[in-house]
Amino acid sequence: MLLSPLTLILIAFVAVLSAFKRLQTWLNNRAFVAAHGCQSPPRFSRFQNILQQIKAIKSHSWLDMWVERYATIAKTFESATVSINPIIFTIDPENIKAILATDFDKFELGDRRRKLMYPVTGPGIFSNDGTAWRHSRALIRPNFTKMLISDLSTFETHFQHLLTALPPADLHSGFIEVDLMPLFFRMTLDSASETLLGPTMAFRSQLDPPGSASLRFMEAFDYVQKKIHRRNILDRGYMKPFGLIYGLWRATKKDEFEEACTTVHSILDNMILEFLRRPVKVLDESRKYVFLEEMARNTRDPIELKSEVLNVLMAGRDTTAALLTNTFFMLARRPDLWARIHTETEESFGGKTPDYETLRNMKQVRNLLSESLRLYPPVPFNARTATENITLPRGGGTDGQSPIFVKKGQQVNYHVYCLHRSPDIFGPDADVFRPDRWDDAGLRPGWGYIPFNGGARICLGQQFALTKASYVLVRIMQEFELIENRDAEPEWKEQISLVTKSRNGAKVALKRRERKN
Ligand code: HEM
Repeated sequence: MLLSPLTLILIAFVAVLSAFKRLQTWLNNRAFVAAHGCQSPPRFSRFQNILQQIKAIKSHSWLDMWVERYATIAKTFESATVSINPIIFTIDPENIKAILATDFDKFELGDRRRKLMYPVTGPGIFSNDGTAWRHSRALIRPNFTKMLISDLSTFETHFQHLLTALPPADLHSGFIEVDLMPLFFRMTLDSASETLLGPTMAFRSQLDPPGSASLRFMEAFDYVQKKIHRRNILDRGYMKPFGLIYGLWRATKKDEFEEACTTVHSILDNMILEFLRRPVKVLDESRKYVFLEEMARNTRDPIELKSEVLNVLMAGRDTTAALLTNTFFMLARRPDLWARIHTETEESFGGKTPDYETLRNMKQVRNLLSESLRLYPPVPFNARTATENITLPRGGGTDGQSPIFVKKGQQVNYHVYCLHRSPDIFGPDADVFRPDRWDDAGLRPGWGYIPFNGGARICLGQQFALTKASYVLVRIMQEFELIENRDAEPEWKEQISLVTKSRNGAKVALKRRERKN
């Protein structure tokens, strides 16, 4: 079919216009680079990047691959995989500070994060940007100050459920052999849901039978988090045509991801509607804190309430369970640390139930958790997208000291896992698990240590998570005398999902303590 002259003129006009726009952007960018004295960061080949990543993912050493790269290429470099535009990768604390704090308003989570999260959580604090994020944060933040801390009895209830779920001890040795990881994940789901939804609607995944709402929710929630990344890889850059073909093929099949999302949403929808049908409660400071009740003072919109609950659940549940799992993975291999925490627990509480103030001041516990979060941060990498042309302070030129140019829409990734292993911040033994390092007055990592992120979007649940993890740690010390490793794998291996956890869980043997009094 021949095109009419008018159509040809139109096509030519659009082509010239777009070429002109490109030229104008290129000239603007060049002027920006010159005005700010920017230099290019080192580049790493796309092809090599892809090949190395495939290999590292297969051997579950993807994070260590990045450590190696930053050590051999530079602390800041540019590369790409399937994205059309190159991505900037950095572990320079100065750059991270600029992204998260100094130039916070010039970066956002971006479309990619939204596409990743929305099907599961809907819009909310963990997935929104700009005004919507500010609204979410203002809605949620006051709750965190009131939340938790006051109420350790909720933690105790869920810790008791964890004890109930343990298998029986071996009759001869007296040891209980168990992988603690699934128990921690159930415990954090149950206790987070109790804080978010209240005791009557909370999940009881540790106790409930298969097929119950708790377990269906948990299985669906775990499934979507596992699949979320893989699903989105086909929605990026050069992968889009494959994504389209895959999408057409998938349309003929059952979509398990969508089904799991539906399960998550329908279970919560019912709970929120049930909650909204109840009469509004009068504010009573003596009652247990419930997130949903507090939020409902500002909004009665069921969708908004559900989305924020899901966002906070997503942010807080797996992260805390991963911290506990990683910590016990280490404790099972380090009897010296186990003995130290045991002594501190005995000196602080004996057999008494832990209280918040004493827990907060346990130095050995604090050091242990800090070190666990340093070497095995549950959120080991993160990304932001520039909302306008901007510079990052370092990484350009042969010495890496010049500012670098970040184009509007360009993605910057930072690897917290690698940052936390930087010898110039943590010394030559940066890759050794040594909680004592936190006693060293000379150690001031600043933006070199950000397990909870930093700046305006710093984690709201930090105190909640640390209190919960300390509580569980101390209670396990009180209940059990000994721990032994029951895992043939000597090294920690990653399992990357939205949150990164130990691939092998925390397979241990625990022996109950006999209290004399
Ligand atoms: C060891 C446990 C935890 C770790 C390592 C952790 C880590 C993080 C990190 C890295 C972020 C920043 C994400 C980003 O901006 O890209 C974040 C945000 C957040 N976290 Fe946590 N978190 C933990 C526990 C919790 C808990 C228990 C809660 C709630 C009960 C929680 C609630 C939140 C919320 C609401 C945000 C979003 C803040 C915002 O964007 O304004 N977190 N967390």
